[in-house]
Amino acid sequence: MSRILTGIQSSGEPHLGNVLGAMLPAIELSKQNESFFFIADLHALTTIKNKDTLQLNTLKTAAAWLACGLNPDNTVLYKQSDIPQVTELMWYLNCLTPYPMLANAHSFKDKANQLSDVNAGLFTYPVLMAADIILYNANIVPVGKDQLQHLEITRDIANKFNYTFGETFIIPEAQIDTEKMTIPGTDGQKMSKSYNNTINIFAEETILKKQIMGIMTDSKGLEESKNPNACNVFKIYELIASEKEIQNLRLKYEKGGYGYGHAKTDLFQLILTKYKNHRLQYKHLINNSREIDYILESGAKKARTIAESVLTKVKRNLGLMRA
Ligand code: ADP
Ligand code: TRP
Repeated sequence: MSRILTGIQSSGEPHLGNVLGAMLPAIELSKQNESFFFIADLHALTTIKNKDTLQLNTLKTAAAWLACGLNPDNTVLYKQSDIPQVTELMWYLNCLTPYPMLANAHSFKDKANQLSDVNAGLFTYPVLMAADIILYNANIVPVGKDQLQHLEITRDIANKFNYTFGETFIIPEAQIDTEKMTIPGTDGQKMSKSYNNTINIFAEETILKKQIMGIMTDSKGLEESKNPNACNVFKIYELIASEKEIQNLRLKYEKGGYGYGHAKTDLFQLILTKYKNHRLQYKHLINNSREIDYILESGAKKARTIAESVLTKVKRNLGLMRA
């Protein structure tokens, strides 16, 4: 049995891209593996500078995990900041991480033309991520394609540590679900909070509807036959619907007499039906945040036990502690 681990930043409201691209595949894996899932609130601090926003995002991210079916009896769900050992390990790793490796990371490079906006936390973001993973001896890290470079950095740092100070860490591997690699947003680009093109499947109906009605399409008239493969509404529908539903929608597009407004309404209804229970559970949890707190606290207790023992080994190997 492998140990799988993954984190999601609490930097905004969970959307369909997070659910299909990260949460559901990870929960599937958790059924056959020992699993550690956490809310990366320390990483979120690199961008969020408001205490209420951070707290609410953390709650929403935990509620989304649980509403998607995460079972806290067989999965350790915790908040990154509840395990202070991770920032201690990060320091040790910082001292081994070459500057050019971080300067080459996409997460930094993308912002390198506005350096005044880059805080040191953003620069060292990949080192904290490496600490997140190797502190728990994780073997497999399910992530989106955008995180592959961070995993490479993690492996490099862990290998360098083992080489320099003796075998200490397990070298983790990334796992990507190729079929669902990139979920498109309402404008056809990758769905992302930063592009303002998300579909927030847990949001109130009015908000959800507005997001779906805002999906960009071409300007073909109602009567015209349409190409489903070139339509953003269809592309999103396809990711959620059954084979039969997809076939039916394809025929409607090709036949004509079916407008984009109809397609959007059908997508809205599909999301409400398909995610009905998820939405109910999410709402329940948000209104009963003590339940979430309890789950996160017991997760942190389990995670801390492992973190403490790995960190003791690290400190011995570094020469900070006598064996
Ligand atoms: P965002 O881009 O909205 O800020 P995050 O970076 O917080 O999303 O992503 C959290 C997790 O969800 C990551 O594992 C990421 O790979 C996955 N993810 C986010 N957006 C998508 C998407 N459009 N398609 C597939 N996976 C996604
Ligand atoms: N950087 C990841 C993201 O933005 C979140 C993350 C932080 C993570 N630490 C991690 C993912 C460790 C996997 C493992 O999506």
